[in-house]
Order: sequence, then structure tokens, then C-alpha cells
Amino acid sequence: MLFYEPAARPRDLLPHDPLKAVIAPRPIGWVSTISAAGVVNLAPYSFFNQFCTSPAILGFSSEGRKDSIRNLEEVGEFVWSAPTYDLKDAMNATSASVAPEVDEFDLAGLEKAASRLVRPPRVAASPAALECRLVEIVQLKRANGAPLDAFLALGEVVGVHLDPRLIRAGRFDTAALRPIARCGYHDYAVVEALFEMKRPA
Ligand SMILES: Cc1cc2nc3c(=O)[nH]c(=O)nc-3n(C[C@H](O)[C@H](O)[C@H](O)COP(=O)(O)O)c2cc1C
Repeated sequence: MLFYEPAARPRDLLPHDPLKAVIAPRPIGWVSTISAAGVVNLAPYSFFNQFCTSPAILGFSSEGRKDSIRNLEEVGEFVWSAPTYDLKDAMNATSASVAPEVDEFDLAGLEKAASRLVRPPRVAASPAALECRLVEIVQLKRANGAPLDAFLALGEVVGVHLDPRLIRAGRFDTAALRPIARCGYHDYAVVEALFEMKRPA
């Protein structure tokens, strides 16, 4: 087994940090927010997941105080839209580093659909979306307490949008959604098949 402490990575063997390829695949938080002035933002975050069931709490982490975090500080609401295989190029386009006044929906040629309970819109073409109210923004820190330039936004799901075509026999059909997930480097995975395993009684 190769072992190293992160600061002493053997760069001849591993020129690129492998950790994002090891913690993979990661679901993608395709997050829309809106500024107080009404400028909409859409960006993908793979430091993303659901952390609680009832209520559902979603979180994503921004390395640096990016526009999504700034917007959340102004208007504490966000929407997650499911990034599907069909939307992969649009999702990627929304990761461009552009000025805060640029609306990434327009940049990626995506249509907006109005949300029901929050101000940021969802991606109309995405078959699943969750409206969220910000709970808190946590500045991440090291084990020794030193603050990092990284911000974890946590939000409570207050509204659920599902394309009824993905509901089959009372269940949401994740494989039919074909969600994409982030692996390391420039790699992605797509979920197209599932296997079932019941927990021990
Ligand atoms: C698939 C994918 C996942 C990403 N995940 C993250 C992430 O977890 N955290 C982060 O800070 N940036 C991440 N990025 C980069 C941001 O999407 C990018 O910096 C974007 O411009 C941020 O947008 P904003 O400044 O409009 O909020 C990711 C990019 C891609 C393509």
C-alpha cells in the first residue's frame, strides 16, 4: 500500500492530486442563485450532497467566495437542478469563469423555469429540481483551526419538482434520469443502471 501525508505527495508518481479521483463519483450540485440586484447565477459544484432526510438538507462547498456564495449572502435561496447526461455540455458551460453580471443560463443557452417558493429559477430542461432556503454558510477550517478560503452552504429543501415521466411504480427512477457525476481530472460518470441490496433486518 502506498502511504503519504498530503503535503508530501510523491509528485513523480502522482503529478496531479488524486484525491478528487478517489472520492468519486461525486454528485453535482447544479446551483442557481440570484443577487439582490436580480442577476441570476448558475454553476456546478461537485463538493455537494444531501446531508439529512427529514427535512432534506443540501450542501455545496465553494473554494473561494464565488458568485453563488455572494448571492446567497444577499438572497438566501438556491435551487438545485439535476444535471443529466443530456445536459452535460450545458452544465459544463455554466462553470465558465465569467463576470458576476453574466447570467450563465444565457451563456449555456438554457431556458429558465420560475420557482414556486424561492426567487432563483430552475433549469427548465432538467427533469428534477429542489428549491432550497439557506440555513447557514460555514467557513471551512483546518484541523488546527486555521480558516480556509472555502465556504460550505447548507440549505433546506422547501420545494420539489419532478418530471412525472420519471416516476414509475411509486418510485423515482434514478437510472432513467441518467445523472452525471464528477470523478477526478476531467472525468465524469453517468448512472444508467442500478443494483438493489436490502439492509440486514
Ligand atoms: C463538474 C464541476 C464541478 C465543480 N465543482 C466545484 C466545487 O465543488 N467547488 C467549487 O468551488 N468550484 C467547483 N467547480 C468550478 C465552478 O463551477 C466554477 O468556479 C464556477 O465559475 C463558479 O461559479 P460562480 O462564481 O458563478 O458561483 C466545478 C466545476 C465543474 C465543471
